[in-house]
Amino acid sequence: MAKQNRTALLVGASRGLGLGLARVFLARGWDVLATARGPAPALEALDPAPRVMRVDIDDDAAVADLRRRLAGERFDVVFVVAGVAHDAQVPVPLGDRATALKVYETNALSPVRFAEAFAPQVAAGGLVVLMSSVLGSVALNEGGTWESYRASKAALNTLARSFEARHREAPFGVLLMHPGWVRTEMGGPEADIDVATSTEGMASVVERQLGRRGCAYLDYTGETVPW
Ligand SMILES: NC(=O)c1ccc[n+]([C@@H]2O[C@H](COP(=O)([O-])OP(=O)(O)OC[C@H]3O[C@@H](n4cnc5c(N)ncnc54)[C@H](OP(=O)(O)O)[C@@H]3O)[C@@H](O)[C@H]2O)c1
Repeated sequence: MAKQNRTALLVGASRGLGLGLARVFLARGWDVLATARGPAPALEALDPAPRVMRVDIDDDAAVADLRRRLAGERFDVVFVVAGVAHDAQVPVPLGDRATALKVYETNALSPVRFAEAFAPQVAAGGLVVLMSSVLGSVALNEGGTWESYRASKAALNTLARSFEARHREAPFGVLLMHPGWVRTEMGGPEADIDVATSTEGMASVVERQLGRRGCAYLDYTGETVPW
């Protein structure tokens, strides 16, 4: 019987790190189903090509519809990459309340709700991976800045730990990932590393974590990030 490829569902892959992860997992022989919330010409142009579907993670009905369309499919990795950094430089007490709430919604609430929806479709020995950030570390927050973004990723970390505790009997692990400071639209041109370095590193970390249970918080080199 032919050996089955590993399968990844990558959520938020129109550009930046999601697009880079799709490229790397495809090059490593994985079957990739990648999502975008709008047109994604760069994703659709990848060779080899992923399957591409549409979903906005802030839209529960769209997530439920995606789940219906993917009923019966199993994924070794469900990786929610999507995130936003609206008004990141504005201190929370001085900024717009609705904008800070939107950052919390997209970065914390929606990824965990997406994970919950797809938990039954994670293969035994697989992983739910949620894109966090070192800025989500409460312990490492000595200098402030990026307040609403930091708070949203700290909330994501806490919700991921609760998700893992609630699913402790399930046959998959949970991984919170810090991709490094990466030159994307969000990371900016001054960031430390390029998308290829980050995504090759993250793919290797994910491959090493397959089969592990519990909730880990790791960077793209595999180092543990303090909570
Ligand atoms: N770059 C860094 O240095 C860095 C560091 C730490 C953590 N991260 C995290 O890594 C992830 C990717 O960041 P990036 O640097 O690649 O950012 P990016 O270039 O700004 O890309 C963000 C991606 O998220 C998608 N997205 C945003 N809201 C969405 C929603 N509601 N539903 C579906 N997709 C949505 C965007 O889709 P559209 O094209 O439709 O807008 C885009 O594909 C984020 O979670 C970010 O917080 C990045």
